Amino acid sequence: MAQPDPAKRILCAIDTPDLEAAATLARTLKGAVGGVKLGKEFFTANGPAGVRRIAGAGLPIFLDLKFHDIPNTVAGAVRAAGALGCFMLTIHASGGAAMIRAAAKAAEEAGRNGKRPLVVAVTVLTSLSEADLASVGQSGPVEAQVLRLARLAKDNGADGAVASPREATALRAALGPDFTLVVPGVRPTGVAAGDQIRVTTPADALSSGADYLVIGRPITGAPDPRAAARAITYQIAAPPRAAAKA
Ligand code: C5P
Repeated sequence: MAQPDPAKRILCAIDTPDLEAAATLARTLKGAVGGVKLGKEFFTANGPAGVRRIAGAGLPIFLDLKFHDIPNTVAGAVRAAGALGCFMLTIHASGGAAMIRAAAKAAEEAGRNGKRPLVVAVTVLTSLSEADLASVGQSGPVEAQVLRLARLAKDNGADGAVASPREATALRAALGPDFTLVVPGVRPTGVAAGDQIRVTTPADALSSGADYLVIGRPITGAPDPRAAARAITYQIAAPPRAAAKA
């Protein structure tokens, strides 16, 4: 059976308010990555028109706006995101069962034209410690809360979750092969971690069960972003450690 194209597993995070820079990047990366992630920074500056402009470059869009509101409002937001044509979007699992169900149902409805977005749930933000969880009344440890929220998401119709590299293995084991895992905090071998505290290599993230790797600055900050994305694809196909042993 043919291996899936490793480039398709890479989603490049374009975190900038600059529409022209984002559009140039998206054009440059077409064919070298599987899609681009647009988040709150880009969206707040450029809105739906900005998303359409980037989509015009021809790459699938992962709209990472982390919806968290009453079910009716989140359903409306998911329908609107579906109308924008994104292939995947995020919600907060901590919005609760009814909100997750509303998001999943809205995604189904948005999919009647054949473009149903995947709904992936954020569990515990990696910026939060166990003490932070306690301060908002959530019980830890963090890993247990991540698993609890990911199960809640799956049981209520979400398609997947965003997971840190450290959580991916446990989530894959607990939630089975059909749950989409999206993993940020990925750094190609030899690239600075930046402000990411826990990082993993692309090959290790995929072997721990990730379906998609979210990679931003190692691509967007490179002198040649397309070459940087290609280099990551080669690393996935032939991880340096394995190559060194051969
Ligand atoms: O530039 P970098 O590769 O660190 O970008 C990673 C992207 O993934 C950013 O858009 C960041 O907001 C997002 N992200 C993350 N860690 C999480 C969740 C999302 O880095 N736990």
